[in-house]
Amino acid sequence: MKGKFVTFEGCEGVGKSRQIKLLEEYLSENGVKYFLTREPGGTDVSEQIRKILLDGKNAEMTDRCEALLYAASRAQVVSETILPRLNAGELVFCDRFVDSSFAYQGKARNLGYKFIEEINSFVLECCMPDVTIFLDLSPEQAFLRKGGADMTDRLETSGTDFHRAVYKGYLELAEKYKDRIVKIDASGSKAETHAKIIAALKEKGVI
Ligand code: TMP
Repeated sequence: MKGKFVTFEGCEGVGKSRQIKLLEEYLSENGVKYFLTREPGGTDVSEQIRKILLDGKNAEMTDRCEALLYAASRAQVVSETILPRLNAGELVFCDRFVDSSFAYQGKARNLGYKFIEEINSFVLECCMPDVTIFLDLSPEQAFLRKGGADMTDRLETSGTDFHRAVYKGYLELAEKYKDRIVKIDASGSKAETHAKIIAALKEKGVI
């Protein structure tokens, strides 16, 4: 793996998409070449899996099925785009990656980190991120900022306890993988958070 791989993580409504947009503007202005993808999604097959995962009508989906579908979507985007680009020496950004599975399915769905490691072993072997930007904001603050949950989204409507557990999971992961995961306080203004992200990426030698 010759390129650099950076992922973005955080609870719903922390401003991740907005921050990625601001980062893209910064990179373009500074002539930095990059490739951006997202999870679940990023390829035709993975986007189809995303629809199944987020569809509020699929209320009967089991936790294991959910975890395996995220892993399946990941397997496709890793082989089709992430790995070839990293092997070609590119800078690759991904909006969410395996840490989301650890936090959402491992912690909040109670499947355990070991199960997530097992079904994502191909990721652990081939392409763990070099740097993960974790936007740190509690679900209470995030949903307040977002103006409530999207009622058609199966994951967003999973309830307060679920999202608190996701947040706890992220905090545990940030502690466990201190070298890789950079915790960024996302409670300030968009500009403040953006500046912190740029500083972190510079410090980590990504840009
Ligand atoms: P997004 O809306 O940030 O694109 O993410 C889609 C949803 O999928 C979000 O609720 C987080 C969830 N998710 C998981 O539960 N596990 C995963 O492995 C990934 C990548 C996302």
